[in-house]
Amino acid sequence: MTYVFDDGREAAKAMDQEDSLRGFRNRFYLKAGEIYMDGNSLGLCSRDAEQCLLEVLEEWKTLGINIWSKPKVQKFLYQDYLGALTAPLINADAEEVTVHSNTTINIHTAIGTFYEPTKTKYKILVDDLNFPTDRHAVDGQLRLKGLDPENCIQLVRSRDGKTLLEEDIIEAMTDAVALILLPSVLYRSGQLLDMERITREARRRDIVIGWDLSHSIGAVPHDFKAIDPDFAVWCSYKYLNGGPGAGAGLYINRRHFEKPSGLPGWHGNIKETQFELSHQLDKAAYAGGWQSGTQHVFSMAPLEGSLKMYSEAGVENLRKKSLRLTAYLRFLIETRLKDHGFSVGTPYDDESRGGHIALEHEDALRINEALKDAGVVPDFRYPNVIRLAPVPLYVGFEDVYELVERILDIMVNQKYENYKNKVGPVA
Ligand SMILES: Cc1ncc(COP(=O)(O)O)c(C=O)c1O
Repeated sequence: MTYVFDDGREAAKAMDQEDSLRGFRNRFYLKAGEIYMDGNSLGLCSRDAEQCLLEVLEEWKTLGINIWSKPKVQKFLYQDYLGALTAPLINADAEEVTVHSNTTINIHTAIGTFYEPTKTKYKILVDDLNFPTDRHAVDGQLRLKGLDPENCIQLVRSRDGKTLLEEDIIEAMTDAVALILLPSVLYRSGQLLDMERITREARRRDIVIGWDLSHSIGAVPHDFKAIDPDFAVWCSYKYLNGGPGAGAGLYINRRHFEKPSGLPGWHGNIKETQFELSHQLDKAAYAGGWQSGTQHVFSMAPLEGSLKMYSEAGVENLRKKSLRLTAYLRFLIETRLKDHGFSVGTPYDDESRGGHIALEHEDALRINEALKDAGVVPDFRYPNVIRLAPVPLYVGFEDVYELVERILDIMVNQKYENYKNKVGPVA
């Protein structure tokens, strides 16, 4: 889609006025004067999330052990309840989604479940731009099978260090590939892959395919009825605003419900007989069957409040606003910042970008540090990227305008020169 924007603060204010989602902002803990652009790393706390956490704490205080069975939402089944709240974001059935552990563990679980190498079909296809934990998990699973990652990884290399070509991914789907794990949105550049096309090509070749939705869930609506992947994983602390370490997501396509879990545990048993405590696992035939141990209730409760906001706002509406916000940010970068050596590493088209903009500059690290002191919360990714995520639930158009004003001030007055080219422990 082509967007037309006017320059100036008044134009930004007018867009905020017309924004039907602007009321959600007041439900978040935003600091006065601060521009929070890091919701693709850790989303902000909402009053809704806080309220749910406090309610669950109260349930523990008043109910003790009965927290599992007595509240209206039984915490014994909390993962199913939250799975059902998440499912509409990816157009999946409620039983296909569960909330469990963290993303890394869920990748181990999924690979452990779906990777069934033979002598001729044994490779796992990954890309060289994915977040490192995905690769660590894949390599670890290969070693557990006594295989050498050197021989068993089918690596798709980026040609420009920022984006992947769908053609390259498809070409790498040789007869030797047994499983594919790819990110929906690349964490550095923000490129959104054509998941439907890639999944179709994988399935045509009888290759199991799973997606890591960490950088798209809550920002980009997915249609899993159309995409039809085998599995997916995601974290809930970015766009979903579930809080630091929030229970992560796992999608298992219903055609696999009868498969054994790659990381079995007693909470994957069918609920009716779980407390018979048999040594024979009677695995539940839905995504909940991939649960291992006891659910982390306090790391799930904020997600309940947050997911209900998604039901209210509608993920399609959020995507529409998000695309407009990122297009506006690009417009301001290309107009107001044009003389200051910046470029945008995020693909231009709506269909190819997620929820953030990758602002590139040879002095990105120092500019990023200067931004923090100017009341902006961005993040830096090596070698030259400042990631800026205008999250539609709590960021407005005037925030984006003000962000670019602050960057301009740092550049015009060379304020970044006062900072060291050194990154802290959390970038
Ligand atoms: C693509 C991707 N996968 C996984 C993770 C993190 O996984 P975990 O929930 O295990 O910390 C991240 C974190 O940024 C990520 O970007």
